[in-house]
Amino acid sequence: MPESTSHGTIGIHHPARPGECMPPSGRAHRRLASGDLGEVLGLYAAYRDVSAAHDDVARWLDVYPSVGVWEHGALVAFCYTQRNAPGILEIDNLYVAPSHRSHGIGADMLRLVESAALAEGYQGLFLTNALGLPAREVRRSPETFYVDNGYTVVLRCGPTLAFVKQLSITD
Ligand SMILES: CC(C)(COP(=O)(O)OP(=O)(O)OC[C@H]1O[C@@H](n2cnc3c(N)ncnc32)[C@H](O)[C@@H]1OP(=O)(O)O)[C@@H](O)C(=O)NCCC(=O)NCCS
Repeated sequence: MPESTSHGTIGIHHPARPGECMPPSGRAHRRLASGDLGEVLGLYAAYRDVSAAHDDVARWLDVYPSVGVWEHGALVAFCYTQRNAPGILEIDNLYVAPSHRSHGIGADMLRLVESAALAEGYQGLFLTNALGLPAREVRRSPETFYVDNGYTVVLRCGPTLAFVKQLSITD
């Protein structure tokens, strides 16, 4: 399990058991697995329908870097990825419950997934934002969120932006 975060909002203080950490706030985080799929889809359902086939997402949760954040036993945020191409990981979905936004959890999850990606040999991250897809809330563009976290916009296609972040450079 990668260690924490410049914000410390996810807040790793007292490891509860291997792979899981529980700060005094009652917040814990760990890598996701396919057994978490129901909880992930349940949290996300208030926002929008997941576009990928559930079988694909379940496999990604078992295989690629991810993180879920629980507070008092309830999932409040998650980030999962899939392989885009050899060496490049795609952030497929990043979501923080409205009640938990603007406290650094999104930034902390990016850092945890990035450090897991690097440890697993990935050299770069890629993502497209979902601003053009239907959702059940009025959204802000996440551009400054990603740019503030070291991502660069490489494509602008209407509401959809593509972002990349280089993690390491090898020959
Ligand atoms: C985008 C999201 C993951 C950010 O998570 P978060 O935990 O609120 O992010 P942080 O607290 O680390 O950073 C928040 C800061 O990022 C910046 N920011 C820029 N665009 C933003 C946006 N669309 N949403 C939230 N923050 C944004 C702001 O500076 C913000 O600080 P402020 O709220 O004080 O203005 C979360 O708002 C979310 O789940 N939104 C709905 C789903 C979504 O848009 N996912 C991204 C798909 S590409």
